[in-house]
Order: sequence, then structure tokens, then C-alpha cells
Amino acid sequence: MTKTHVKVPATTANLGPGFDALGLALTLWNEADFSVAERFSITIKGEGAGKLPQDESNPIVDAAKQVFDLAGRPFPALEIACLNRIPLGSGLGSSSAAMLTGLMGANALLGQLFSNDEILKIATSNEGHPDNVAPALLGGLVASTMNGEMVFSRKLPVKALSATVVLPDFDFPTKQARAVLPAQVARGDAIYNISRAVLVVEALKSGDLTLLGEVMSDKLHQPYRLPLVPGAQAAMDAAREAGASAVALSGAGPSLVAFASKQDARIGAEMQRAFESAGLSARIFRLKISRQGASVHSL
Ligand code: HSE
Repeated sequence: MTKTHVKVPATTANLGPGFDALGLALTLWNEADFSVAERFSITIKGEGAGKLPQDESNPIVDAAKQVFDLAGRPFPALEIACLNRIPLGSGLGSSSAAMLTGLMGANALLGQLFSNDEILKIATSNEGHPDNVAPALLGGLVASTMNGEMVFSRKLPVKALSATVVLPDFDFPTKQARAVLPAQVARGDAIYNISRAVLVVEALKSGDLTLLGEVMSDKLHQPYRLPLVPGAQAAMDAAREAGASAVALSGAGPSLVAFASKQDARIGAEMQRAFESAGLSARIFRLKISRQGASVHSL
């Protein structure tokens, strides 16, 4: 195969208490065409255009090269055309999406040499935690854990819900958002999260939004991160007041994700207003849960 099209969804990781373990795929997609060509080129339209490197240091190229290296095959000159819809550094899994795009595009060009499980293992090892890459690959709600190099991920049933994501214009890199977390946690906080994470899974499965609203809270990461994002706590409160059933920091932030049974423009508007009151402009993404994960099609 010399040409392939890859589509990878955005993801929202953690879902409150499921820190580094739970993630959901959302209906916002990055797409890329790969073809073997005479000369290397990468073009980027949409999110990150003009910011992302357009040379071999681009993370998609890096991931593609990794697959050819692992296969023991020479890396061919590739023409890659990207259409990005996932905002960079937002808490919506843009770096996982880029990595999977490169891994899956290259794997398709190699005739699917590596299984999905192997792609998940490579992507998780690159990322350090599976909670974005696993739902991006499998779609829907995914619970994951790691044991050394092994990754265990399972796609779980989930009811259709609306997910309003509001992204403030604030730089909060994942590296920084992880550096502010304590190395050790109190036993009570661990119990708080374990018990709620299990019930978040049950609430998403059954569509019990009252339960989701009770249990989508966290003591392991949000208390350390939210105060660093101006307006974030106020935006969470505004989402609930506007009718959202539950709200969480999306991944490491700075975006927030609010869940409701159906789309309601007031939820995003009120969250946006809260960020604006704190001096930040904010973008609203009215999304749904995507049961579909990443896919490749030959062209
Ligand atoms: N679980 C990760 C975190 C997601 O919260 O740091 C972001 O990559």
C-alpha cells in the first residue's frame, strides 16, 4: 500500500477521579493522508498550522519513523497532509492523536505489521500513561492500567451524552500540570478516588446522571491544578448552575468538560463567561461521546 488515510478522535482523560486510568473518545477528529512520495513533505491545516514543525521533527513523522524502525525497514520519503481539529495543549489529547496518527499511518503503509495491541503498547510507552491513547484507539469509554511494559485496556459500555468542552486561552502544558502534583497522597484521598472512579464507570454505563454528578469529583489532581487556571473553578460551578450533570478538568487541562443528557448552549456560554470574568477568552466545543476510535483506510 502506498497511500492511506488516518482519522483519530480527541479524548478527555481522567473523568474526575479516574486519574491516568479512564478516558473517553469525543466527536472531534484529526485526519491525515499518508503517501509514499519522491520527497518528504508535511502540510498542516487547521489547529496548529503555522505552529507545528513542518519538517522531520514533527511528532507525526517521529511516530511514523518509530514504526519503520521497529519493523527494521528503511523509512521512505512520505508526503503527509494533516487536517487538525483538536486544539494543541488543550487537554483533549492532541499529542496522543498526533502520535497515533503517525504510528497507524506508518503501520498501514507496512501492511498492518503491528496489531492494535502492539500500537497501544508503543503509544502508551511513548506517552507514559494510557488514558488518552487507549480511548483514541478504541473509541468510547476506556479503562486502562499498566504493569511494567504491559498495558491492559478495556472498552466499556457508555450511554450517549453531550460533552461541552470549554478551552480557555491559557498555557498550561501537561508537563507543568503533572509537576504540580504531590508524589504521595493521603490514604483517605486514594479511597475517595478509587470509590468514585468505579462509580463514574457505572454512571456512564447506566446513564445515571445524578450519580455521575455526585461522583465525578477528585482529590488527586484537580485540587492542585484548578487554582492555577484562572476562572476554572468558577467555570465548573457555572456549568453545574447552567444544568450540566457533571464537570471535570479535561485531562491535565486547561479545558473543562461538562456532561449533560442533551446539548444545551447555556452550559458552554456560562462557562465561557466565567473564564472571561477571570480575564481569559475561551472557545466552546459542543461534542458527543464517540463510540468509534481511530481508523485507517487505504486510498
Ligand atoms: N492523565 C493525564 C494527566 C492526562 O492528568 O496528567 C494528560 O495527559
